[in-house]
Amino acid sequence: MTGIDQQLLDAAKDVRKNAHAPYSKFFVGAAILADDGKIYAGCNVENAAYPQGNCAEASAISAMLAGGGRRIKAILTTGNGQEPVTPCGGCRQRIREFADLDVPVTCIGADGGDALETNLQQLLPHSFGPEFLDK
Ligand code: THU
Repeated sequence: MTGIDQQLLDAAKDVRKNAHAPYSKFFVGAAILADDGKIYAGCNVENAAYPQGNCAEASAISAMLAGGGRRIKAILTTGNGQEPVTPCGGCRQRIREFADLDVPVTCIGADGGDALETNLQQLLPHSFGPEFLDK
């Protein structure tokens, strides 16, 4: 577990306890280090109308923007089990909106196990982002 930012891990694990996941029982926490130096955290929020649920990463991004952060400098996700919990496809695109491609993405099971330390470029190759709209 070398190189894992302990503050990000603690924040993600803490916020995961607040997840509202009565349907999947899959509890996810995400923590962002933002460009303002602060850590913003979010959990998944499910809904009885299933498609209305939010991923933890989306919640963390909302918290960042609401709190005054603008850019993601690092992000960590954690969820049930020992396997790294990677951001879903939709959340990779959400992260893309607010992060450079080399931003570190750390994925780790909440019950221990090896972390996956990757970056946005690896998770979302050949991606579409805001700069494409400038053309
Ligand atoms: N989930 C996340 O919060 N983030 C991801 O990137 C993967 C999936 C949540 C959504 C849903 O509440 C539960 O995990 C099961 O899919």
